[in-house]
Amino acid sequence: MTDTKQAQDRVLIFDTTLRDGEQSPGATMTHDEKLEIAALLDDMGVDIIEAGFPIASEGDFEAVRDIAKLAKRAVICGLARASTTDIDRAWEAVKHSPRPRIHTFIGTSPLHRGITSLDQDGMAEQIHATVTHARNLCDNVQWSPMDATRTEHDYLCRVVEIAIKAGATTINIPDTVGYTAPRESAALIAMLLERVPGADEVVFATHCHNDLGMATANALAAVDAGARQIECTINGLGERAGNTALEEVVMALRVRNDIMPYQTGIDTTKIMQASRLVAGISGFPVQFNKAIVGKNAFAHESGIHQDGMLKNAETFEIMRPTDIGLSETSLVMGKHSGRAALRAKLHDLGYDLADNQLGDVFVRFKALADRKKEVYDDDLVALVADSATNAEHDYLQVKRLRVVCGTDGPQEAELTLAIDGVDHSIDATGDGPVDAAFNAVRMLYPHEARLALYQVHAVTEGTDAQATVSVRMEEAGHIVTGQSADTDTVVASLRAYVNALNKLIVRRQKTRPAAAF
Ligand code: KIV
Ligand code: ZN
Repeated sequence: MTDTKQAQDRVLIFDTTLRDGEQSPGATMTHDEKLEIAALLDDMGVDIIEAGFPIASEGDFEAVRDIAKLAKRAVICGLARASTTDIDRAWEAVKHSPRPRIHTFIGTSPLHRGITSLDQDGMAEQIHATVTHARNLCDNVQWSPMDATRTEHDYLCRVVEIAIKAGATTINIPDTVGYTAPRESAALIAMLLERVPGADEVVFATHCHNDLGMATANALAAVDAGARQIECTINGLGERAGNTALEEVVMALRVRNDIMPYQTGIDTTKIMQASRLVAGISGFPVQFNKAIVGKNAFAHESGIHQDGMLKNAETFEIMRPTDIGLSETSLVMGKHSGRAALRAKLHDLGYDLADNQLGDVFVRFKALADRKKEVYDDDLVALVADSATNAEHDYLQVKRLRVVCGTDGPQEAELTLAIDGVDHSIDATGDGPVDAAFNAVRMLYPHEARLALYQVHAVTEGTDAQATVSVRMEEAGHIVTGQSADTDTVVASLRAYVNALNKLIVRRQKTRPAAAF
């Protein structure tokens, strides 16, 4: 498929979870996590994966390069500002893909021109030079006038024309601050298609932020007006209120194909898996009533609804749970279920684990089934996420925890923590068992990192439910999120805290000499 030859009704899906999504404070992902997400996006039929911003850091560069090497179908795109250094770096990373793309951008609105101190002519020259440079390296170049929705129309037409003449093959129109509304979004694309010479030779893309809750509506309106690429993220992850959610635009185009007759190449049955994966890795849980992927999106609690559903599912359901990869029944197995049954169930849920990871999840599944009457799909998903984030080779490992709780505090924690393979034990007190456990970690492994967020969610109903805990920590401007799941909330909290510290340790080792401990 080439961008310019796509069928008239085909809308390209450009996923920027790994770039715009990862820019969201606290959503930082490790190298392996990025590769895992990219593999799934590729597998589910995303047309273009924006894998990162190669000049931003060595880690970003390596992630884009390795995703470029691994992706089988998708175009792999790297972001670059309007500078030859940025563009060269992006090219060095994406050139390993059989289908590379360079995406270069500059803020064109009066506010952004003010920041760059360029006047209209100066910026126009820079756009011409940088797009030409990118096109000399790569025959697939995307150009974005950042803050397009607040750029004067005449100037926007002028710079879009320059970018097309310089060789851009996709023109992306960002609503950077989530300011536009559906009618205006459509009118802007229509205006550009009508006024800019050569506009019919390139693909127009829409990139919407959700500050006013209109990102999905704005993207679909742009498509109606002629845009043929939607930029989006899984779960709508992204800075501030996020980006257009992939699952929303894809399912809207599918369910309302009668009034929006456009096709995407997405295998929608992988949507739920992608949503869970991104929520788990980023530590940004999906709100219960989130469209398509929220826990309640297919739940029918009220009597009237349940009655209608039993008679005819279409009474209250406009799509089937299976359309997005949710199985009809979520009750799985008990403690007698074997490894093969677990493998099959995980496969249904979209996880094909390597033998060693399956072995680890199986041990944890057995332990969970001993403690918990019913093990649901969501329990298994939490176990898989936990086994992926808390690994045996981690620098810090929780060996043993005992807490003493009661109405007449302070609470106490006895902790054994392995630090670089050597066990250390200590007793600590705190204002509650979680605080006591965290204090014990701080005493054994003193650190400057600040706890920025502590969040607990029950995975399923019932007092024996597993808790998933997210711990976000900040050190020297870097934010990481640790995760864990357990039926014991204090254990899950401790392991999530230690997971966050391990991520900071890995980051430190990459950026400066080893920590003092
Ligand atoms: O929101 C935005 O303007 C962007 C650009 C870099 C395309 O993310
Ligand atoms: Zn953006």
